[in-house]
Amino acid sequence: MLKTLFIAGCLWTTSVARIFDPKIITEVRNGLEKNLDYIDRNYKRVNVDCLFGVALATALIDDAYQNGTHIMDKSSLEIMEKSLVILKKSIPYSREKSEWITDAFLYPTIWRKNICYRSNALHIPNLPSFKYVKKIFNRDYIDGSEIDFCLQNIVNFTNSMVPTRCFIDRRCWKYFEPDENSVGYLLTHKLLILQLAKARKCYLNDNVYGTKTEELCSSILSEVVNADYYGYLDNMFDLYLEQVVLCGYEGYTEFLQNKWLYYILKSQRSSGCFPAFLDDSLKTRMKRNSNTLDDGCVDHTTGLGAAVLALHYNYIIKEYPATR
Ligand SMILES: *[C@@H]1O[C@H](CO)[C@@H](O)[C@H](O)[C@H]1NC(C)=O
Ligand SMILES: *[C@@H]1O[C@H](CO)[C@@H](O)[C@H](O)[C@H]1NC(C)=O
Repeated sequence: MLKTLFIAGCLWTTSVARIFDPKIITEVRNGLEKNLDYIDRNYKRVNVDCLFGVALATALIDDAYQNGTHIMDKSSLEIMEKSLVILKKSIPYSREKSEWITDAFLYPTIWRKNICYRSNALHIPNLPSFKYVKKIFNRDYIDGSEIDFCLQNIVNFTNSMVPTRCFIDRRCWKYFEPDENSVGYLLTHKLLILQLAKARKCYLNDNVYGTKTEELCSSILSEVVNADYYGYLDNMFDLYLEQVVLCGYEGYTEFLQNKWLYYILKSQRSSGCFPAFLDDSLKTRMKRNSNTLDDGCVDHTTGLGAAVLALHYNYIIKEYPATR
């Protein structure tokens, strides 16, 4: 068990009651285990981005664990054990590449929080518009080494134990400023930077954090909903998973709809991994930190797969707190 940082109740509860279906949670658990087994088999080859997904998944399952009172608790412990074994085994192989990332990102404890789910907090335009989809595929929005620099900037100022004042380098200010033109990975990276700052205990005003994440996740949801409406999720699958994982981690239930859960489960390969695109006719640019393995799967996407399934697992359990 990881150390619980905060034991706090949720101030809000979700308004949509779902019927508990033991079949769904079992499917999610099986998908997650298959995914982790795949990463385990490839532990020498997957990159730190993939392991970040595993670390996040560990934190999410830990948050779902109900101290022995929930019917899924035994499986939660098994999954946590499995993912901790992967991290331990795999980190030494990715260490050479970027030591600061392994040290800063791959400890599940810093990502551990009590997720509070909320519905109807996000604002998106009422009418579908193709402009969102077009922007994702048109714009040259890849932020290259900038994102790594800015993540490292935060890491350099923090130690993740004691709250600290974080000074942000001028080059990184754009990640904190509103910009109408931000799309795709630039939006998810803006959110990730905030999340890292919070996880590493930078002094952040809770209201500002709430407003910022709401703003970012509203824009991100507009992209997802429109891409879904116009049938483009297959072509941006890796980005889509990143969007669901990061905004779902903030508790926005709009990202955790059942139809999308089934879509994700259906897209998982029988080996347990995930490819970056489900259809190769029209691709967004590949994320830089990605490696395609022999079977056509991508380590970055597969790590996101672990996190997204762990998130759904957490969501289902939190909605049905005590079923033993
Ligand atoms: C978890 O359960 C143990 C005993 O089963 C108990 O001692 C402990 O206080 C519980 N922790 C929480 C956070 O409820
Ligand atoms: C962070 O610190 C390391 C080691 O001192 C240094 O090499 C690196 O340039 C720093 N990066 C940033 C973005 O401040």
